Amino acid sequence: MEHIFYPAENAKGTLILLHGTGGDEHSLLPVARELSNDMNFLGVRGNVNENGANRFFKRIAEGVFDMEDLRYRTTELAEFIKTASEKYNFSLETTFLLGYSNGANIAANAMLGVQNIAIGAILLHAMVPSRDSADLSLAGKHIFMSAGTFDPLVPKFETEELYQIFKEKGASATINWEQNDHRITHSELAAAKKWLANIQVIS
Ligand code: MLT
Repeated sequence: MEHIFYPAENAKGTLILLHGTGGDEHSLLPVARELSNDMNFLGVRGNVNENGANRFFKRIAEGVFDMEDLRYRTTELAEFIKTASEKYNFSLETTFLLGYSNGANIAANAMLGVQNIAIGAILLHAMVPSRDSADLSLAGKHIFMSAGTFDPLVPKFETEELYQIFKEKGASATINWEQNDHRITHSELAAAKKWLANIQVIS
């Protein structure tokens, strides 16, 4: 996959940056920089092209996913991350997926369906990617979700449903609510930064 790797000196861990629809491997770099100054960043570009806009998987309509493509692309992304960890010499045990919107949806799907792809995820404005995910224990995994109370794309109940799915699978999960829509806010990034700083594996 198209990507860019920014190594950090004495890196405590790695953030995998997964953009929203229409973004690319550079899009979440400013977000990542707000979250940490001592982690590697791996920016990845989604392989799907929707009328010129990059995405991580196909959709049939707004919010209606092509489930077969989502499964295929999730495996593809997981394989890419594993190969990149060998190439750039970082550990998946201190790796977090950082996704926004479409990138958060594939990040959530990867956490729910792929063993040992990351120790946790920061999901900004994610939906429930799939309701029949694998029977995987997420014990020991750390999930930070942030959502907007008046997000026109992601209703509140869907954020809460995703949170419940993570909890039921044993993850330690938290939701940060913003009085906002689908856009990223500085205040949610401040909350994510604080959350990340308290995770033992990288602090
Ligand atoms: C998706 O298709 O993943 C969601 O609708 C979010 C987005 O528009 O990218």
